[in-house]
Amino acid sequence: MPNGLAGCCKTTALDITALLNGSKCSFTTCKFRLFAIARLALSSLATFFNSLPDTRLSMRFSAMPCHPAPFLDKMRGTMKQAQTKRIVLGITGGIAAYKAAELARLLIKQGIEVQVAMTEAATHFITPATMQALTGNPVLVNQWQDDKGMAHIQTSRVADAIVIAPATADFIAKLAHGLANDLLSSLCLARDCPLLVAPAMNKQMWANAATQRNVQRLADDGVVVLGPASGAQACGEEGMGRMLEAEELARDVFAALQNPTLTLLRQTQDRPSLSRLRERELNGVKVLITAGPTYEAIDAVRGITNRSSGKMGYAIALAAVEMGAEVLLVSGPTALAKPQGAQVVNVTSAAEMFEAVKQQVANADMFIGVAAVADYRVARPSEQKIKKSDAALTLELIPNPDILAYVASLPKPPFCVGFAAESEKLREHAAAKRKKKNIPLLAANLAQNAIGSDDNELVLFDAAGEHVLPRADKLVLARALLRHAAVLYKKGSK
Ligand code: C5P
Repeated sequence: MPNGLAGCCKTTALDITALLNGSKCSFTTCKFRLFAIARLALSSLATFFNSLPDTRLSMRFSAMPCHPAPFLDKMRGTMKQAQTKRIVLGITGGIAAYKAAELARLLIKQGIEVQVAMTEAATHFITPATMQALTGNPVLVNQWQDDKGMAHIQTSRVADAIVIAPATADFIAKLAHGLANDLLSSLCLARDCPLLVAPAMNKQMWANAATQRNVQRLADDGVVVLGPASGAQACGEEGMGRMLEAEELARDVFAALQNPTLTLLRQTQDRPSLSRLRERELNGVKVLITAGPTYEAIDAVRGITNRSSGKMGYAIALAAVEMGAEVLLVSGPTALAKPQGAQVVNVTSAAEMFEAVKQQVANADMFIGVAAVADYRVARPSEQKIKKSDAALTLELIPNPDILAYVASLPKPPFCVGFAAESEKLREHAAAKRKKKNIPLLAANLAQNAIGSDDNELVLFDAAGEHVLPRADKLVLARALLRHAAVLYKKGSK
């Protein structure tokens, strides 16, 4: 049963059923300097102006002489940019273009504003209407139907990065040679921001010496090349050239946007690698995580479990990998895909989870107990299926070891982070739990808000007090939680 559901050590078959059911600049030119100063000033103004309703913003500017409407638009746009990350998602003509829709959705979910630009060939694979509906922005396709003019220049000026996904062999060749014969290639050539490309092509096209030369040239020019991956191809062949999955790309784009070294790519010939982009707050830190529910057998086919989906623990594992950690995830039974880059040990019961943690904990710098470990297990599970009868069935439940409390009480414990899923009095129970378990950081959530859902709301408790992480996608929360944990870990907090 999940934490908090545990009642007494003895319970009847009816109670079990209820539990089971209920718990289902270096800037080198003046131009750049001026641009940087203007950006700094605008970012301070942005907080104030963006808090005003649009009408008030217009009134303030209408009181000023000479304020052409485009200026207002630009002003608003630039202010927005100071707070929101914006990318141009370039789509070129390959079958992997369908994955761009999911990529756009995932980026938007993480608060990134997406402007799509497509080549004419890409529109044969996915329609601009689809991308417009997903992003809420008109899609740029035709350089000759540009009513604002200069879209190939302006679009990259307000973007933090251009991401080409998929990037065909042809488009990579164009980029490598600086061709600019359509809107997207012109936009890339005229860019003032980092460029990331996700190649997608048949394995022979990828292996071709010309493509390899072009990719090498892009890398030498400071372009970040994401993938490709190996696997089944649309043409029926198998090999290198598949575009990375949307989740992987979204993660890499997010990591790249967070990385200050990326902005330096504008000025340097430095060649970045993904591993370097991810060199971040938890670089080299060994993080041991428990996630998911546990399953405690009653007999050969029945058991006690809870509704934990494992999503929060898996999101933390992913975020830790992004931040450079070496991650070992001890997971109870879930339906989730292995978080890429993490090592996973699958377990079923609390006792197995405890064993796995005991074996690995000596290696860990940080332990994060996210699992909804069953507090009790059946004292004597039956090896055979218990036969149904009309008589009441009584099961004896005995407590499971508290894995987090065990780790926290080791002579040299890793930095411990606990979770508390409460159904009421969140703050009171969570603060008490942090003290009782003697851990430096505890993340509390309301069980009814958290279990099984894709987003959540967390309150972090540490020695300094409480910190609210407002409702967001679990991956976004995981990153925020880990940034907080990394600061405390480096300080050596108790
Ligand atoms: O006391 P409570 O069970 O609510 O504490 C929750 C925290 O303790 C979570 O971090 C959970 O992963 C951990 N825990 C554990 N082993 C248990 C029970 C809870 O590691 N048997």
